[in-house]
Amino acid sequence: MPAGGSPEWRGVGDPLPRRRRRVEAGTAVSAFGPAAGGIAEAGPPVVGRADPGSSPEPEPESESEPAPATPAPKGEAEKTAWSPIVSSNWPPPPPDGGDPDGPVAFVPAAVNGEVAAQVVDAVKIYGYGETAVYALAGISVSFGKGRYTAIMGPSGSGKSTLMHCLAGLDRLTQGKVIVGSADLSSLTDKELTKLRRDSVGFIFQQYNLIPTLTAIENITLPIDLAGARPDGEWLNSVVDTLRIRDRLNHKPDELSGGQQQRVAVARALATRPQIIFADEPTGNLDTRAGAEVLHIMQDSVRDLGQTVVMVTHDPVAAGYADRAIFLVDGKVVAEMFDPTAERVLDQMKTLGG
Ligand SMILES: Nc1ncnc2c1ncn2[C@@H]1O[C@H](COP(=O)(O)OP(=O)(O)O)[C@@H](O)[C@H]1O
Ligand SMILES: [Mg+2]
Repeated sequence: MPAGGSPEWRGVGDPLPRRRRRVEAGTAVSAFGPAAGGIAEAGPPVVGRADPGSSPEPEPESESEPAPATPAPKGEAEKTAWSPIVSSNWPPPPPDGGDPDGPVAFVPAAVNGEVAAQVVDAVKIYGYGETAVYALAGISVSFGKGRYTAIMGPSGSGKSTLMHCLAGLDRLTQGKVIVGSADLSSLTDKELTKLRRDSVGFIFQQYNLIPTLTAIENITLPIDLAGARPDGEWLNSVVDTLRIRDRLNHKPDELSGGQQQRVAVARALATRPQIIFADEPTGNLDTRAGAEVLHIMQDSVRDLGQTVVMVTHDPVAAGYADRAIFLVDGKVVAEMFDPTAERVLDQMKTLGG
């Protein structure tokens, strides 16, 4: 296992026994102490309220004798009772004890230095009852300021969910998201919108440029929407670094994929956000254009002190980052510092990803 976890970050896995049926309020330990524990403060689980018709299952007496859930589909009884993905009743099995054959939770190391963003005991459940999906199965991880972190894992492992919750595009079911000094769960929708606009930059696989606007209009759109004045000097340096000056008056459909993504990177950098989230930013690019975008993001971290969190399933892309964390089934299962494509590939093989 790479770099060991720090004791104060033990929010996942231990000290809870593996076969627990429910998340207990106040039992999670976080770096912020019990008073700040996401579950303790969160009150009843949100999903519990969303499913008022069913009552909680009793806690089983014994770890080895799981109480049977309500009748499961034929032949699926074992799997259904313990799978973290499918539950036949509310509450679904907890993140740490759902599937005995599932991934063992890993506690990432605490960040040295300033933290740009973090999740604490993050649970995200889509749906409820039989269709409940633990997209995030109770994870705690922090992202260092001025660092470039890759979030890796197979398809469906929760990478996008983690990033969307970190970026305030979606809300957790349980747990906390903190960006800078803001606890996102305590923000109103209006405050969240402001934080997304002023403090967060996004880069998506599909570029997400406005087709009717020119490149420069796309780049300055977040600034215009905020009613702010662009910092001309900064914009000039971004545009030159990204080598898009001669494309600025063109609309997206007149640009190559790589150029469109560089415009999207410029748009993300334009507001000098506290943190940039990139979801598979090179997924649509050829190798050369992808490498360029990855280099640019790396430079923005090294030269401009930008913080970047990038979701990718590409070991080569992860090799540009300072650190990679690996997700499987909504859990962090490993992390790696100064990753190289080769080491990331090896790690993915051991994870079966
Ligand atoms: N809006 C949604 N509704 C229901 N299930 C979802 C939704 N979004 C994601 N999921 C499920 O959550 C899990 C994690 O998805 P996602 O975060 O998109 O994974 P990744 O980005 O690693 O491919 C998957 O099982 C996915 O099907
Ligand atoms: Mg995804």
